[in-house]
Amino acid sequence: EKGGYPHFMLKEIFEEPQVIRNAITGRVKNGKTIIAELESIADKLKTTRNVQVVACGTSYHAGLVFKRFLEEYAALNVEIDVASEFRYRKIKFDEDTIVVAISQSGETADTLEGIRIAKARGATIIAVTNVVGSTISRESHAVVYLNAGPEIGVAATKTYVSQLTVLLLIASYIAQLRGFGDKKLMQIVNEIEGMPTIFESILATSNDLTRELAKEYFDYIHFMYIGRGYGYPSALEGALKLKEISYIHASAYQAGELKHGPIALLDRKFPVFAIVPDDSLKTKTLSNIMETRARDAKVVAICTEGDQAVARIVNSRIEVPKVSEPLYPLVMSPYLQLFAYHVAVMRGHDPDKPRNLAKSVTVE
Ligand code: M6R
Repeated sequence: EKGGYPHFMLKEIFEEPQVIRNAITGRVKNGKTIIAELESIADKLKTTRNVQVVACGTSYHAGLVFKRFLEEYAALNVEIDVASEFRYRKIKFDEDTIVVAISQSGETADTLEGIRIAKARGATIIAVTNVVGSTISRESHAVVYLNAGPEIGVAATKTYVSQLTVLLLIASYIAQLRGFGDKKLMQIVNEIEGMPTIFESILATSNDLTRELAKEYFDYIHFMYIGRGYGYPSALEGALKLKEISYIHASAYQAGELKHGPIALLDRKFPVFAIVPDDSLKTKTLSNIMETRARDAKVVAICTEGDQAVARIVNSRIEVPKVSEPLYPLVMSPYLQLFAYHVAVMRGHDPDKPRNLAKSVTVE
């Protein structure tokens, strides 16, 4: 059942090109996005001024990318919170509120309770889930499925990639509805269509690359992931993957927050994993990297192909293909997942069955 792979996690990472294909099928045409499942609430999506995103763990990280993209391309203000906080906040919901609940399993207790509260107060609920007939899907007004196939590994990998793809498409659809379907957006939608091929080429080399990198770093007991803008969700997700399967303490910070405290931790025994694509915030992140180097921290960077400015100042690096800014979280995912995978295996852990964790968190 593992199809010749030593672990489900590895098998599922290698399914990512296909998973993206499934997420796109029937939803993209000539640079335009069609989300048939949302047509019944299209009028609401056109006029709403209040979008709330709710999710936990990795799904929350996908939500952060969605929020940023909607703000940038649909000129919408979007709020996001983890479900265990969301459900206890005094949020004003009304007929105008759209709640987007992201849950791979569709069974996460806090996310479910969050949408129940919002629904009872009049909000319209959109669920983004992988599991057909799941509780969250049944209790929502509209459901957009990932179609990623079952995920066995406790660490979310292919479903994260799928969530990012589907959420970017949903956000593009909302942007189009609201009159922002311009050239720039169409180019991004076209790029999303090309993602399965890009992922195939990434996966041809990323496994060996990340294994080599893991050899250098698997013995550290701390890691600090940093990133800005679209890079921050990648920092959070990279750190979460590492801690949940390798049990190495990993934290994630917005790179600009370093000097407000966390930089005090850094020394030669505390490496930094910098998310530094060639985007509009790159030069800012570069100066944060310099600050960490001044504390003797070793720096691994994940950056855009051929970026000499990054190459000059870091100890090791992973290069990803050049894509539009909002698509870096997608192309960086397999590398962050594979790095965590190899570190876990080198430390003697089974990445499919991390201690203390369940695949679906049905208790609060
Ligand atoms: O099924 P959900 O997407 O609602 O699950 C949310 C989290 O429990 C989940 O993403 C968790 O963080 C994973 N172990 C991450 O790999």
